[in-house]
Amino acid sequence: MRFDIFTLFPAMFEGPFSDSIIARALSAGIIQVQTHNVRDFAEGKHQVTDDYPYGGGGGMVMKPDPIFRAVEAALEMSARQAGADQGDTAQATEEEPLFISTPAPCPIILLSPQGRPFDQRVAAELAGHERLALICGRYEGVDERVRLHLATDEISIGDYVLSGGELAAMVIVDAVTRLLPGALGFEAAPAQDSHATGLLEYPHFTRPPSFRGYHVPEILLSGHHGRVAQWRRHESLRRTLARRPDLLARAVLGKKDLVFLRTLGWEKP
Ligand code: 6GU
Repeated sequence: MRFDIFTLFPAMFEGPFSDSIIARALSAGIIQVQTHNVRDFAEGKHQVTDDYPYGGGGGMVMKPDPIFRAVEAALEMSARQAGADQGDTAQATEEEPLFISTPAPCPIILLSPQGRPFDQRVAAELAGHERLALICGRYEGVDERVRLHLATDEISIGDYVLSGGELAAMVIVDAVTRLLPGALGFEAAPAQDSHATGLLEYPHFTRPPSFRGYHVPEILLSGHHGRVAQWRRHESLRRTLARRPDLLARAVLGKKDLVFLRTLGWEKP
């Protein structure tokens, strides 16, 4: 899987991708990550990438041209002039564009707080692609024409505002990479993770059995695989009901789950 990341701050990606699972996936060739500095595609001596917003107001807006050119170069999309009428007043429409671009070879995702919410399902969906392009917006915004005529998707990682899309891109690369075959090695199983099953995970314990007088639940030391599995399922359900009851409505629940949840006072909505 290949990630192409378009940013004004490529150095931000050096740390997070140089350790742990992402670093291992990179050296194992499971993923490739290429950052592209949008500033390299800005014209003029000062390589300006932002400008004042039309209509006034505070903040700056990222200019469309450097972003279009960076993405088109990396994805080898050619944009050629289509019609004869290329005067300054010519108007592009859906039916009669002034430029013809080759179709995007992969999803081109604009990262912004206005995007569709990222979750484990979206991560699994993205993991099905061979390649993803991620555009990191900065400042107060990105010229709307990037959203309308370059991006094929727009994603937000949650209901809060980040200074830019860079951290969101890292979150997406991480969540997608750990779903790829071989990325976690043999020991871990992404199918068991919180959210993969639609439920929060059960509590984990390791040695020692007693730490500062706090004991590991007896059942986990019992060696009864069946009872351990049932305890874990119950803890998973109990925790999800207490913290994220919204997830229960979408989770895949068996008859025994429903019986247990009823003892906790939950009824299927
Ligand atoms: Cl993708 N970008 C920014 N700037 N803020 C966010 C976000 C993305 N997702 C949540 N907040």
